[in-house]
Amino acid sequence: MRHVVKAFKRLKEQDFRILNAIERGMAHYMYVPVQEVARLSNYSENYVLTKLKFLNSLGLVQRRLGAYPGFILTSRGYDCLALNALVKRGVLAAVTLKPIGVGKESDVFEGLTPSGRRVAVKFHRLGRTSFRKTRRYRAYIGERKHISWLYQARLAAEREYTALTLLFPHGVSVPEPISWNRHVVVTSIIEGIPLYMKPELSDPLEVFYSIIENISRAVIKAEVVHGDLNEYNVIVDSDENITIIDWPQWVPVHHPSANMLLKRDLLVLYRFFRSKYKLKDIGMEDMVKKYGLEEYICW
Ligand SMILES: Nc1ncnc2c1ncn2[C@@H]1O[C@H](COP(=O)(O)OP(=O)(O)OP(=O)(O)O)[C@@H](O)[C@H]1O
Ligand SMILES: [Mg+2]
Repeated sequence: MRHVVKAFKRLKEQDFRILNAIERGMAHYMYVPVQEVARLSNYSENYVLTKLKFLNSLGLVQRRLGAYPGFILTSRGYDCLALNALVKRGVLAAVTLKPIGVGKESDVFEGLTPSGRRVAVKFHRLGRTSFRKTRRYRAYIGERKHISWLYQARLAAEREYTALTLLFPHGVSVPEPISWNRHVVVTSIIEGIPLYMKPELSDPLEVFYSIIENISRAVIKAEVVHGDLNEYNVIVDSDENITIIDWPQWVPVHHPSANMLLKRDLLVLYRFFRSKYKLKDIGMEDMVKKYGLEEYICW
């Protein structure tokens, strides 16, 4: 990301216009021919070629050697387009990004808004990961044959942002959605440490119940099932308040897999608390009833 920020700062409006033309061309071509980049950007082929050389040297585009000279965006190039949009929109101040988390499917940074508010900036990296990860998204991708990383990453960001806008107004403890563009989602920063690091808890049962209470609100009020809940996606702060993060794979409660996913979400956390915090048998079925979830789960 250091490279991206460095490259970003050297770009002019014309460079963004060319990156943008390649992005649009990629809807129709694997590698976008130079003539097409020229047509879409409304610049001459010669000018485009010089610019492409420059963008290539920054690692923002990649050239195909072969039958015809064609170009694609690299993920760094895509990052620059998203950052440019967010800066222009007044969401991010001229970019400084400090890494705060690396997931298997994303890079998360701390950024600043023009008014100086600290925000979390999450870059989805879906296409770079394995088949297993892609499969997680089958529920909403369906059977589309060719899914480019660009499309997948953008879809994941859009999905996550949508989930947060459904959940946050219902008071579910999630990061506040601020904005999104392409594969990037901007939210409030959450302080604390993830559950998998086993933070010391004065009352683990209380924390567990507070997670379940939030899941229940997500399901009943926002009609959203997380679908990938585990100890990595729950952050606990020093007052033992929890926040549930990482929502791109959510499904609506009426989705055919919702029952199964909700049950799995609950069981994963239940088992984690039982083994790591030595919670006694709480009786899952009673708990599900207590939180009004029985009609959403079949045992
Ligand atoms: N809003 C936020 N505030 C602070 N830190 C965050 C925020 N969102 C994410 N993080 C950090 O970034 C890490 C990765 O985020 P997240 O779980 O959303 O992405 P992921 O790539 O899907 O992760 P995974 O590897 O679990 O699939 C988190 O573990 C957390 O440390
Ligand atoms: Mg995660």
